[in-house]
Amino acid sequence: MMTRINKVREKVNSLLLSMSDEEERRAAYIHLYGVSQISAMIAMKRSENIELAILSGMLHDLYAYIMMDRIDHAHKGAITAGKVLRELNLFTETEIKSIEDAVYNHSDKNRIDTPFDEILKDADIFQHYLCNSFNTFSKFKQMRINKVKKEFSL
Ligand SMILES: [Fe+2]
Repeated sequence: MMTRINKVREKVNSLLLSMSDEEERRAAYIHLYGVSQISAMIAMKRSENIELAILSGMLHDLYAYIMMDRIDHAHKGAITAGKVLRELNLFTETEIKSIEDAVYNHSDKNRIDTPFDEILKDADIFQHYLCNSFNTFSKFKQMRINKVKKEFSL
């Protein structure tokens, strides 16, 4: 498990290192690693696949950061995530599909998708919340934050 995570991490790190904007690069590391770790915690709590949750967190905004493109970034990002995973030749198509779907659906925060997809959505918002607790969030995002806090008795 660690080997596969490390292999993906190496690839993600090398892509992030190619970012020319230092500020954006720092933001990318903080957010991708933060979401990845929070995804792991939520997956543990919900008895979902921890390894795949860690990877979906790490990959979910990779496209948006390296291409500096937020437009439809979840859908485009699913393609990038799948490409990174397939190139490594360490994952089954079923595993890749789970991660692609989670990345593809992660911007649809007002919709409930599969339990695995929901981990990434909650982790994404919760990382923003922890990083900047004075942010005001939309109704659906705030509902997710409250749900996670309750789930973890916070
Ligand atoms: Fe994100």
